[in-house]
Amino acid sequence: MLYDVIVVGTGIAGLNAALHAKRTGLKVAVIAKSNPLRSNSAVASGGINAVLKTTAHDSCREHVADTLKGGADLGKLSSVSAMVTGAETVIQELRAIGVAFDLNDTGTLSQRPFGGSKAKRTCYIADKTGAAITQTLLNQCRKEGVEIIPNHQMLTIATYKGKLSGITLLRRRDSTVIAFACKSLVLAGGGYAGMYRGHSTNSQESSGDILAIALRANMRLVNMEFVQFHPTTLPNSGTLISEAARGEGAYIVDELGERFTQELQTRDKLSRDIVRHQMGGHSVYLDFRHLGEALIDTKLPSARKHALNGAGIDILTELLPITPSAHYTMGGIWCQEDGSTDMPNVFACGECAYTGVHGANRLGGNSLLEAAYFGKVAGRSAAKAAKKGIFHPIDYAHVANEMRYVDTILEGENRFNINTMRRNLGNILYGNVGVFREHDSLVKALEYIHYLMKRSSGLCCVNKERSNNVELMSIIELRNSLTVAEAMTMAALAREESRGSHYRNDFPDQRDKEYRVNTLIKRLSGSFLRIQFEGDRTSQWRYWISQFFHVH
Ligand code: FUM
Repeated sequence: MLYDVIVVGTGIAGLNAALHAKRTGLKVAVIAKSNPLRSNSAVASGGINAVLKTTAHDSCREHVADTLKGGADLGKLSSVSAMVTGAETVIQELRAIGVAFDLNDTGTLSQRPFGGSKAKRTCYIADKTGAAITQTLLNQCRKEGVEIIPNHQMLTIATYKGKLSGITLLRRRDSTVIAFACKSLVLAGGGYAGMYRGHSTNSQESSGDILAIALRANMRLVNMEFVQFHPTTLPNSGTLISEAARGEGAYIVDELGERFTQELQTRDKLSRDIVRHQMGGHSVYLDFRHLGEALIDTKLPSARKHALNGAGIDILTELLPITPSAHYTMGGIWCQEDGSTDMPNVFACGECAYTGVHGANRLGGNSLLEAAYFGKVAGRSAAKAAKKGIFHPIDYAHVANEMRYVDTILEGENRFNINTMRRNLGNILYGNVGVFREHDSLVKALEYIHYLMKRSSGLCCVNKERSNNVELMSIIELRNSLTVAEAMTMAALAREESRGSHYRNDFPDQRDKEYRVNTLIKRLSGSFLRIQFEGDRTSQWRYWISQFFHVH
């Protein structure tokens, strides 16, 4: 198939990119690895930030200031300003296609407080905001003629003489590798918090595939060490209890019923307070009991449902145990403000992209805004590039290579247990590259990742069926996760300071002089990774190469 623009990923960023590319009159397809509604956007429930004409006691200037402060001074001012000033238009555009934001008595949009924001600026649909926006965008894409292609897992970017020619995909229906040609490509395939399996709000599908693919295509990744842990998730499953709960007034308490922290501080600080309290021997809970049934059922129906289904707790009368889990990843594919990446005609947006807005820690409610705003920008940029571009031939030797890769996994003899390996990766990351990390824990994690990398070549399908082989997809995902986990852990080792979500026990201070810069990661030949700080071209001590990594 030939498309002017292909978008990979059906979260809010991908769908908005596809919609805006389509509106320029081009042939556009959007690809989902599985069901198009299974994205991290659909999980982000609490709301989307915007300063509206009707927002009381607020301004774009305040929103910019809160975002930069929340990001621990690593955010990019120009990107943040562009997103914040474009927010009201984004909300209007979403309303125009049918997103039914909650309204207050005067008919204007309701807004709730979220952590790290000085004003009530989070617009919402109860506590189902992300899912409601995703569903509406998907319907709109269908209506306007975007081709939605579910159950296709992207494998590689195909190039011809160094130029983008398309992508290769695993068609899950029959486990065949196919290629689609395109003039421009938007990568919007989500982040990598899902690899903290067992300790993540994300589905396991958020395995960082697109970042691993970008790295293999010689694109740079940025700030991979910054992983956001959401403070309020169910302990055994990582199920998210939205920040909407705290925005609507729920308390965080311990077993004595004591409030020991500020509920509406930023997620990085709150998660650290919770883990410290747990390490002091306490249990931690969300307390909804004073809010009353009417408020809970209108504003927090999903929280009530998740608590009942996931923990057997009725939040009207009982305390709900919570703990932090990996929720969002600030690291991403390097791109400029128009979404363009290191590779001509390839654009990135959403959680897999580094747009510079979140710095070292994202504010709640800014991810859906970032996804919608930069999705639109990337979609338009991709359309513009496609209009000027031409189709380049797909090199079928490349497709045959990918088919051999898939066949080896399908037909080879399996030696290991994929589920155990995924779970072990999640546990080792949570324990060692978690809310708190330090040199020794990071080295331990890195060594374990390298051990799993070696073993992963012996990972093949037990089930040899070609139709809808979930195991095949999982093995490919795990291999991608290991690539991304190595990049993330190495970046965390290299950044010898604490900033935002990256807290080093051995370097507890923010060290602006040395580290108020982005971490850049690139793959060198032979699969080595180079970690370098932006603007730092010379000093060897901040230049790390994975396989030569020296444990001191
Ligand atoms: O807690 C939440 O509803 C998550 C929102 C977000 O990640 O922005």
